[in-house]
Amino acid sequence: MTDLTLLLDRRLLRAKGHALPRQRRLYELLRQAILDGRLPAGSALPASRVLAHELGLARNSVIHAYEQLGAEGYVQASRQGTVVAALPDRRAAVATGQAVSSVPTAGLAAPPPALSDRIQAFNRRRTAEQDLMPFMPGIPALDEFPLRTWRRLLNAAWRDQSPDLLSYRPAVGELELRQAIATYVRAARGVVCTLDQVIVTDGTQDSLSLCAHALADVGQRAWIEHPGYGGARVACLAAGLKVVPVPMDEQGLAPPKALWRRQPPRLIYTTPSHQYPLGSVMPLARRLALIEQAQAAGAWILEDDYDSEFRHDGPPLAAMQGLVPHAPVIYLGTFSKSMFPALRLGFMVVPASLSDRLQGALGDLVRRGLPAEQTALAAFINEGHFTKHLRKMRQLYAQRQAALREALSRHWPWPGEVLGGACGLHLVLTLPPDIPDADAAQAAMKKGLSPRPLSAYGTGGPPLNGLVIGYANLPAEQMDTRVKQLVRAISAGLAR
Ligand SMILES: Cc1ncc(COP(=O)(O)O)c(C=O)c1O
Repeated sequence: MTDLTLLLDRRLLRAKGHALPRQRRLYELLRQAILDGRLPAGSALPASRVLAHELGLARNSVIHAYEQLGAEGYVQASRQGTVVAALPDRRAAVATGQAVSSVPTAGLAAPPPALSDRIQAFNRRRTAEQDLMPFMPGIPALDEFPLRTWRRLLNAAWRDQSPDLLSYRPAVGELELRQAIATYVRAARGVVCTLDQVIVTDGTQDSLSLCAHALADVGQRAWIEHPGYGGARVACLAAGLKVVPVPMDEQGLAPPKALWRRQPPRLIYTTPSHQYPLGSVMPLARRLALIEQAQAAGAWILEDDYDSEFRHDGPPLAAMQGLVPHAPVIYLGTFSKSMFPALRLGFMVVPASLSDRLQGALGDLVRRGLPAEQTALAAFINEGHFTKHLRKMRQLYAQRQAALREALSRHWPWPGEVLGGACGLHLVLTLPPDIPDADAAQAAMKKGLSPRPLSAYGTGGPPLNGLVIGYANLPAEQMDTRVKQLVRAISAGLAR
């Protein structure tokens, strides 16, 4: 008979006020001893009456613990009484339940498997607080959002929901929202589509991930602008694609001829209406050439139209999607900038020829919900609040950008070029080589300011040095003070 009194911690077992009842503590200690091999297979456990006496526990506690271990297969009844069962592989046994503190776990400690190789290097640690700091790119004017109207529409949407709507919702989104999006993008962005081609997603990050999985196979190449949107890069890497950085010029994506031959793409990610982050706008001729070359290469173009609603110098160029019939273009839109990022709603417009097959695949890949948010957003668009909000924000962002330029021209002491600004929510300011952008951004962060280093937008090509400065979520009257703080923070960082 195995002597358990040395294996089991009596003080722990008898302690009063422990979070677990005694029978559960005994069960846990025995289970761990079995799993880590201190109680090997075939060991006979003492009779319940004997163990209860030795440990000073009620007999019922021991009986319950043995019964539980028996039910889970750790012990079994035999002619010798209760004996430890043979487990196929102790290390593989899954620990269940709550462990009792001070139970030794050595021997059980085979480390869990690591992350997949594809995402080993992913390590974004940005906090929600940092997103709210002045100069964070990509954040719209949050306190200018018409929350009261939104709350009313959301409440109305919940009020009108029948219980049926609480079930799984269509993977491609609510019909009324798809309709509202189709109407909007046709009028505002020159997108040529019917409602069937619109698929609602959880935002562009979700769209990118779905495209990377649905339109390319593992090992195929995704061309990504360099510098470019990190979200596109990680979506492609996570789907097992090879990312190829593609250089930019002042007209946007500029793939060298040889690249088409040597590293032909399956996916081409681009931001033609407002290159992210440099801000160039791809002219019509370049767009048409890119479509033609993609067609010849059998590649898909992912057209990310993330913030072209905020065009500051005249109407935006129409989307690539509608330029040519049967263009292999997936148009990606988001409500993160035009509404607010936490809404997590975006959409894709896919070619008619793909729509049916893709919708079937998404039925397997996606479980979609949030009917009230989708219904409220459809109403927000249909009742004209969306266009009104965009109009107001366009003016506001133009003012904020002008205030930022003014403040930079007044206080910025280093040589540098301001890039972008035709559109959107940010500017890029190049830095001289003796001010590494990562150091400048870190010094700024310590003072509660969060411009992003341009080098962080590298997708694998030559290094870059500058700051990406968001202005949309910062009132114009604060711009001067904040720029002065930024200059002071960087100067102090350099002096160290
Ligand atoms: C280039 C680009 N595309 C898309 C998005 C929006 O992504 P999401 O819709 O996932 O919020 C952003 C946000 O910062 C962006 O910078």
